[in-house]
Amino acid sequence: MPPAAEKATTPEEEDLLFRLLRQLDLAPEASQRTTAAALGISLGRLNAQLRAAAEAGLVKVTGRDGPDKRQRFAYSITSRGAAEQSRLRDQFLARKFAEYDALHAELTGTTSGLNPFQHRTKTMQNQHAPIPELYVSHESAQKLKVEAADLPSWDLTPRQICDLELLMNGGFNPLKGFLSEEDYNGVVDNMRLADGTLWPMPITLDVSQKFADSIEPGQDIALRDQEGVILAILSITDRFTPNKAKEAEKVFGADDIAHPAVNYLHNVAGPVYLGGPIIGIQPPMHYDFRARRDTPNELRAYFRKLGWRKVVAFQTRNPLHRAHQELTFRAAKECQANLLIHPVVGMTKPGDVDHFTRVRCYEAVLDKYPAATTTMSLLPLAMRMAGPREAVWHGLIRKNHGVTHFIVGRDHAGPGKNSAGEDFYGPYDAQDLFKEFEEEMGIEMVPFKHMVYVQERAQYEPADEIEEGVTVLNISGTELRRRLAEGLEIPDWFSFPDVVSELRRTRPPRSKQGFTVFFTGFSGSGKSTIANALMVKLMEMGGRPVTLLDGDIVRKNLSSELGFSKEHRDLNIRRIGYVASEITKNGGIAICAPIAPYATTRRAVREDIESYGAFVEVHVATTIEECEKRDRKGLYKLAREGKIKEFTGISDPYDVPENPELRLDTDGVDVDYCAQQVLLKLESMGLIGAES
Ligand code: PPS
Repeated sequence: MPPAAEKATTPEEEDLLFRLLRQLDLAPEASQRTTAAALGISLGRLNAQLRAAAEAGLVKVTGRDGPDKRQRFAYSITSRGAAEQSRLRDQFLARKFAEYDALHAELTGTTSGLNPFQHRTKTMQNQHAPIPELYVSHESAQKLKVEAADLPSWDLTPRQICDLELLMNGGFNPLKGFLSEEDYNGVVDNMRLADGTLWPMPITLDVSQKFADSIEPGQDIALRDQEGVILAILSITDRFTPNKAKEAEKVFGADDIAHPAVNYLHNVAGPVYLGGPIIGIQPPMHYDFRARRDTPNELRAYFRKLGWRKVVAFQTRNPLHRAHQELTFRAAKECQANLLIHPVVGMTKPGDVDHFTRVRCYEAVLDKYPAATTTMSLLPLAMRMAGPREAVWHGLIRKNHGVTHFIVGRDHAGPGKNSAGEDFYGPYDAQDLFKEFEEEMGIEMVPFKHMVYVQERAQYEPADEIEEGVTVLNISGTELRRRLAEGLEIPDWFSFPDVVSELRRTRPPRSKQGFTVFFTGFSGSGKSTIANALMVKLMEMGGRPVTLLDGDIVRKNLSSELGFSKEHRDLNIRRIGYVASEITKNGGIAICAPIAPYATTRRAVREDIESYGAFVEVHVATTIEECEKRDRKGLYKLAREGKIKEFTGISDPYDVPENPELRLDTDGVDVDYCAQQVLLKLESMGLIGAES
């Protein structure tokens, strides 16, 4: 018989190769004699297998010192070997399931439900059995890590780290890595992988053009976290340039950058995607709430241990208040299931309450459920806010976590308004799409209704079940944010005192929070002068430290090596944004005054800052003609003569802000008046007040 790796055509040969790879994965240091015994084959046969596997690049042979001649070589699996092992494992399982199913049918006349394809349609079976992960054994990981140090490496973005964690731990099962081009096209076009399996969200590894040009399909690359730790190896099978406009239309419903994921796609994600299987080396490190984080298999084991056969999961990216507690409790009661509060702590919508605060709030609410029926686990998912597709994706992820029922509400994972001011999706689109695929997914939807408080009965009830004439109370998310921002009362019927005090601790009234005033406009428009006047006025008022990040000052101290190309200007503004966000986070006032000509970069800075406090964009709208007429620094003359290249407004673009918080017309008005206008704006936004 030919050695398995050379031409592994028969199932027996493939099984042997699988067992060999598994054995080397588990015990890379074992002697050949031990390995042969474990596989039940002769030493001669083992040698032939090892030679063939080494030639195929699945096994690495290294010499080792020692007196025993029969132990001259050590054999360990390579990253390619690990990928092959995982492929063969799936194939092996599928074959065994099919054989068992056929036998079952022969004996009983009915299907066993274990055939993987049919088993998808069977709700609530096998939710306790472990699901495949993409990690190699600890021993192999140590070896591969050393070898991977020489591979080209890609530093993962925060979103890619979230995706990788769920790929490796089985949260994205059945994916085995980042999508190939064929799978990507299937997912974008009809929510299916190339083999027909349902999968609604493209999980892609986007990289820069420069990095993509430096590698070739067929190569392995190391994937590192932001500290440089190697988390996984990607065996690249595909390198392709996606049609992002099409991806936006198909996956998110519109190519409109008001959608956070579409904005990410066009303005943050790299232009090229790499696809291929992943070899997991270690999970990303989390130092926060470690006891509350569970992999799919850990949750499955927990449910198994407690005998929770039916589990209903509640997905959330917001703090929980009484209405949520009521609806989750009702959902669990209705389907006679245990409850899993499964909040997302990876990445949510820009501007959301940070996950540290949220988890403290969730912990406060957990006490309000009957003991021993409810648990909470944190999910390191990077949400896309894709409404209907996201709901299906969430369902599949929860299924992988051993959950049998999933709560889908009104406007599930909604991204807010589009650039025409309308909702991206209909309020029940997510429920409709989920329903369509419920059978195939093998997880049941629990649609939930909008809950409101009925004053006469002092309880929460579904809005559509309430008779006329009763007093219905409700506080919207926007209203809650307003009350928190202004330090106003939040009634007891709405939330729990512990939750409110947590929120107040993180979000003091706006007049006590940090914020950023971001001036933008042409050179010579008056930005710096107005910014200086504003700084002095704010310092006179006192209360919070004020820092001025003027264009010229920043270029001298922070960005002295940068020029005025688009790339350099963006870098300059991102640096200003970073410093301003740190100042804002720590309760100070940052005043920035660069030209900042690009709308997308201003938006990125806004998103960074708005997680910590207000971002007040002020467009100093002095016309280019007026700036040129004034020409305080003589730069416009030089620009006209071609002596300064890429000069904003003359030979370089400026995107006029579409919706700034304030637009200052400087024509015929003095600096003091302009600074006053800004102060009035800050006051109307509640950022400065009597007590600030
Ligand atoms: S940017 O685009 O936001 O990074 O520019 P910024 O850091 O604000 O720097 C602008 C100041 O640099 C001077 N300068 C130029 N401006 C625009 N285009 C070109 N090519 C250029 N070369 C030098 C100019 O004096 C700007 O000063 P301000 O404070 O805006 O008047």
